Amino acid sequence: MSEMKKQAARKAVEYIEDGMVLGLGTGSTTRYAVEEIGRLVQEGYRLIGVPTSLETERQARSLGIPISTLEEVKHLDLTIDGADEVDPRFQLIKGLGGALLREKIVAYHSRQEIIIVDRSKIVDRLGVRTPLPVEVATFSHGRTKEAIEELGCTAVLRGGADPFVTDNGNYIYDCKFDGIDDAKKLEADLDSIPGVIESGLFIDMASRIVIGTERGVKVRERPDQDC
Ligand code: A5P
Repeated sequence: MSEMKKQAARKAVEYIEDGMVLGLGTGSTTRYAVEEIGRLVQEGYRLIGVPTSLETERQARSLGIPISTLEEVKHLDLTIDGADEVDPRFQLIKGLGGALLREKIVAYHSRQEIIIVDRSKIVDRLGVRTPLPVEVATFSHGRTKEAIEELGCTAVLRGGADPFVTDNGNYIYDCKFDGIDDAKKLEADLDSIPGVIESGLFIDMASRIVIGTERGVKVRERPDQDC
């Protein structure tokens, strides 16, 4: 799988142009892309990176990539990030790496979002294989969990007795659905629960999917969008 991840990362980096402001995703696939971006900076490209996690920020700094924040930059030209599932409508599940909130904010403000995955992430229907990560406030999180489960899932606190804490100081519930039919509605339903900060459903955000396979890289463009 790591070769397929690398291939996808390398392909995505070909879309980078000198002078761009980049969103830097999180995860094992994106790590390869950040490595390549570091190489471009060494070659003289003037790039600025806005990281989606402390982990990515550390990697980017170690490679000499100039770092900024969404507050400081006027716009984001392009974000490269991974995903846990990608369906035929370019809908995604993200957040198994725990960075979904910052990833979603950065994706929302980015002109283009390129998603890099190996072929194992491509699914016909979201949520059959992967749980949906949902970031929640720690306050009364057990009650938030009950409300989430009323939407038809089993929600498990990530880390259990020693909960995983996100970069934003919140918890994550991994929510197992028996498949997700209407991702847009589910996202709205989750957002309406007080205590839910953000879900790992990314709808209408990915502009391009770059897939590493045994037979080379495939690129899919979202048909309804200029990129
Ligand atoms: C991080 O929070 C996630 O959204 C990652 O982008 C996602 O989990 C993909 O990670 P891998 O590239 O490690 O599979």
